[in-house]
Amino acid sequence: MADRIRWGIIGCGNISHKFAEGLRVLEDAELLAVGSRTQEKADAFGAEFGAPRCYGSYEALANDPDLDAVYVGTPHPMHKGNSILCLRAGKAVLCEKPFAINRREAEEVIKVAREEKRFLMEAMWTRFLPIIVKVREWLKEGRIGEPRMIQADFGFRAGYDEESRLFSPHFGGGGLLDVGVYCVSMASMVFETPPQKISGLAHLGDTGVDEQAAYVLGYSGGRLALLSSAVRTNTPHEVTIMGTDGMIRVHSMFWCGTRATLTESGHDPIDAELPLLGNGYNYEAAAAGQCIREGKLECETMPLYETLEIMDTLDRIRAQWGLKYPME
Ligand SMILES: NC(=O)c1ccc[n+]([C@@H]2O[C@H](COP(=O)([O-])OP(=O)(O)OC[C@H]3O[C@@H](n4cnc5c(N)ncnc54)[C@H](OP(=O)(O)O)[C@@H]3O)[C@@H](O)[C@H]2O)c1
Repeated sequence: MADRIRWGIIGCGNISHKFAEGLRVLEDAELLAVGSRTQEKADAFGAEFGAPRCYGSYEALANDPDLDAVYVGTPHPMHKGNSILCLRAGKAVLCEKPFAINRREAEEVIKVAREEKRFLMEAMWTRFLPIIVKVREWLKEGRIGEPRMIQADFGFRAGYDEESRLFSPHFGGGGLLDVGVYCVSMASMVFETPPQKISGLAHLGDTGVDEQAAYVLGYSGGRLALLSSAVRTNTPHEVTIMGTDGMIRVHSMFWCGTRATLTESGHDPIDAELPLLGNGYNYEAAAAGQCIREGKLECETMPLYETLEIMDTLDRIRAQWGLKYPME
């Protein structure tokens, strides 16, 4: 294993640009190759980020013998196939959220990673941000006592385009898989267990996907998560964790956040501001790189069992709404 992790990127879209930008600030990582469905797009992306190898197919990228790891930045329904392609070619994989369309797909990918003994991680970048690491420290130290409730929302108003990945069921469209996953992941991080009960309501728009939704997850001992997501409505993008002895608020926009307030019962609030070094995507890449160098097959901060639990929760929420995608 080289000292510098040699990354490849599959799919030259929006988020892959951000990930490539994030890699720039890491001294122990380099972008060696990019793969696109078209050579022109790969060449343009490679030129922008200084990637020396540009492939006009995902297969060619996966088979580059010099890559240590591949970041999968394609739409949700392609995550499974693209991840498996790379794992079978002997590469470590960091795959965008949602990790797959559903739990069954996620299981398939994880099975392959275990067979091939390759590192695999869901790119839930928020977990690796310094402010969220701080929030986890506060929780671990018991600063707010036992967490009893969490409230989280992530909704934005996207321009309506029935063909786009946000609205088309063929792309696994809707708010839950695109942004609700951040809220479900937050609840999972705080309560460290899957929910026992789920109750939700969604407005399914003309294309049949969840344009806005609210869901309550019930955990053992009466703990509750009150979550919401949307792709046609802006929401505050905040997280509040309420405990027996205080409260933690992660300010807007929590998913790329830098600011949180800890209020311990009977004390003045403490503000924490932890700016991002780089654009924020560097933290997940650094964590994955560290694990890969250490020969780990998964990352403790975003372990695969938890990714599976989160996918399972997303399935159960969707089942309540009767939302099934064509590929399921
Ligand atoms: N972590 C985050 O902050 C964040 C933010 C946004 C999105 N995401 C996730 O990243 C994934 C991609 O989102 P995005 O906004 O980057 O999407 P995007 O801009 O549409 O890019 C997706 C790329 O995937 C490739 N692709 C492969 N098959 C495709 C198909 N059938 N149709 C369209 N594109 C296809 C294309 O690259 P080539 O043409 O080069 O092959 C395309 O540019 C989603 O799963 C999303 O949830 C994460």
